[in-house]
Amino acid sequence: MLDILFKRRSVRRYAENQIDKDKLDRILQAGLLAPSSKSKYPFDFIVCDDADLNLKLSESKPMGASFLKHAPTSIVITGNQDESDVWIEDCSIAAGYMLLQAENEKLGACWIQIRERPHNDLMGAEQYVKNLLEIPDSHRVLAIIALGNKDAEKEARNESFLKREKIHFNKF
Ligand SMILES: Cc1cc2nc3c(=O)[nH]c(=O)nc-3n(C[C@H](O)[C@H](O)[C@H](O)COP(=O)(O)O)c2cc1C
Repeated sequence: MLDILFKRRSVRRYAENQIDKDKLDRILQAGLLAPSSKSKYPFDFIVCDDADLNLKLSESKPMGASFLKHAPTSIVITGNQDESDVWIEDCSIAAGYMLLQAENEKLGACWIQIRERPHNDLMGAEQYVKNLLEIPDSHRVLAIIALGNKDAEKEARNESFLKREKIHFNKF
């Protein structure tokens, strides 16, 4: 497991070809296997494998999403706020599981934050994505995971990356 954790990096450059359907299915399984408060599983995942749709999603916010136009697939992570008061935590851990499974599949992946980010002066990125994908009012949009075959390998982390001073025992 630690081997995958050291290797996982945010990959924002992808080869042009579509990702393997079985790999995508295993990534989605990983999301569905994540723990969930009170076993509510308030999340819904929207797989976008249409180039025009990913182009439009890449325009969700002015910065930090443009590379999505080159991703063959993305997964939009939504959560039902009427179903769970901790939909953010549930969606986050599901997204984290999917990022790790993507690395396990040797695919490139990157989290794109949508919640709390502006689309422009008039509209939030969340509303932009909700309009585009016809997401019901009950559901919030946490993030988008961009997915693709890696264009190049990023350097894995090593021991020197670990900020061990962040770890405390028994008191802060
Ligand atoms: C909550 C969260 C939001 C993020 N939002 C974005 C984003 O909008 N765009 C982006 O390119 N990367 C985003 N990232 C990826 C981070 O930039 C990345 O994880 C960080 O720089 C560490 O690099 P690494 O993932 O390669 O270890 C986000 C990551 C997290 C956990």
